[in-house]
Amino acid sequence: MLDLVDLEDHRKAAAVGPDAVIPAFCKTVGRLLADHPLTEVPERIAGYMPTLLSVPDLLKPEQKTLSGENYEKHEVFLCPHDEFSVLAVVWPAGIHSPIHDHLTWCTFGIFEGEIQETVYEAADVSADCCDAIAINRTHHVEGSVAHLPVNASNIHCMHNPGKTPAVSIHVYGGNSSKLGANVEKIYTARS
Ligand SMILES: [Fe+2]
Repeated sequence: MLDLVDLEDHRKAAAVGPDAVIPAFCKTVGRLLADHPLTEVPERIAGYMPTLLSVPDLLKPEQKTLSGENYEKHEVFLCPHDEFSVLAVVWPAGIHSPIHDHLTWCTFGIFEGEIQETVYEAADVSADCCDAIAINRTHHVEGSVAHLPVNASNIHCMHNPGKTPAVSIHVYGGNSSKLGANVEKIYTARS
């Protein structure tokens, strides 16, 4: 199996195609999880994400579809040991996700379109706090990568400000088919 290190040249990754690049990327994620403290893993994965995102035909047509007005997740790869999941998320034009945090760590990158991510912090430290205050906003374009911290606040909202659907690739800790939505809590914005 190819190693992603061999594919740092994006032209080479595009030439070998998704059937080689996706397994190489997943092998790399597994190796990062085995070799490094979990707190370092999301950022380290982000370093390999541009190679994955550079493959033009990375996703099958059915992994970029929308069947309704809400955003949709499509499975790309599930680690057989439940350590991580790779998903494609399709965002209709104009949509906002709820303000939410996650049960597990996450690294994501933009494959098509644009996503505006707003990061929040909880309005107070109580466990039942459901109000959040916006602290940062980032406009992600094609090829942008980001990650959410491990064992720290990771509240955010995703918005597609464009006029066409956007597609992002997410690597989540755990098995997404067992975790479901992977949302710990939904928050309300407080100004
Ligand atoms: Fe999220």
